[in-house]
Amino acid sequence: MDVGQGLVHVFIQAPDPDRVGSYFAEKGFSTGTAIGSGMLMMELDERSGAVDSIMSLLNSDMFLQRRVNRVYLCDSSEDDIDAAIRKIEDRAAAGARFRVVAYPKKIEDGIVEKLDSHGEVLEPRGFAEVAYVVSIMGKYFFGLSGRGRYFARSGIMEARLSRAYYKIAEAFERFGIHIDNKSRVLDIGSAPGGWSQYISDRAGLCVAVDPAKMEIERANIEHIEKTFQDGTEEIESRAPYDLAVCDANIDPRQVAEFVAGTPGLISNRGAALITLKLKYKSGKSVQRVIDETCRIMSKGFNSITVKRLLSNTLMEATLYARKA
Ligand SMILES: C[S@@+](CC[C@H](N)C(=O)[O-])C[C@H]1O[C@@H](n2cnc3c(N)ncnc32)[C@H](O)[C@@H]1O
Repeated sequence: MDVGQGLVHVFIQAPDPDRVGSYFAEKGFSTGTAIGSGMLMMELDERSGAVDSIMSLLNSDMFLQRRVNRVYLCDSSEDDIDAAIRKIEDRAAAGARFRVVAYPKKIEDGIVEKLDSHGEVLEPRGFAEVAYVVSIMGKYFFGLSGRGRYFARSGIMEARLSRAYYKIAEAFERFGIHIDNKSRVLDIGSAPGGWSQYISDRAGLCVAVDPAKMEIERANIEHIEKTFQDGTEEIESRAPYDLAVCDANIDPRQVAEFVAGTPGLISNRGAALITLKLKYKSGKSVQRVIDETCRIMSKGFNSITVKRLLSNTLMEATLYARKA
């Protein structure tokens, strides 16, 4: 059975497909459909150029690169695997070198064996084409694509500082946050210093508050070596801040009380960016903490948005609040 003329099923394997779907929607694609807990499926029209656009986004976007595991491009489906393999053989050019990419991965070896016994040239490295097979929803979806469309993850640094860096970089991009060399920024829970590093590259002053040691020292970073509760006097003496950020592993409602409830802390056109740590047992408690944090923030801020960033852990979300 053919899936449809010019219609391509793009299967995107990622631990949290809903978050990946929202990210695509922000970039102008459809959100797709989450199938189970680890796959996002999009139906794209080949003729519109959307498949090429999505593949070039996947291969260039640093946040997707970290969050997406594999991508499969399928334009047809069959009810049994042997029929799918026969179709792949029919379509493959004589002597084409290709690589098999299948889901679930455990069916890959069986497919490689079957294709191999028919004299196909399988080259996991020097391949020119990719044969995709996806076993899902009781069907075998398949397709052949040129190497140019293959999703490849580039080497990703996962040092502590860089993990934090991705989170703040994605938050700045997705909430449209701008700071410049006149901005004063308060960083609560700043150690070891990934966020402070990102901020001090852009802002005039970064006041970093954390009882733990910072791994970074810069002229425009002032470290207050205390909890924010113990360091209020020092923090307030440097106010007002254009932006307060917080990535501390504490109840976000406490941070919200401080940021929204301290008069003069944030300037009139200022904003706050807070990682919501959501280690609660039920989905209901998670939603309650998010709602309560928003309610507290609304006492000092006019516009409040919560997003699950690709760079958040599964137990986190990110809140952004603006006064103006
Ligand atoms: C996940 S780390 C922050 C990472 C940091 N954003 C970075 O980019 O390197 C959380 C930090 O919150 C700090 N923290 C926890 N409770 C705090 C509080 N009440 N006041 C200030 N910092 C706190 C911890 O000491 C820890 O260093």
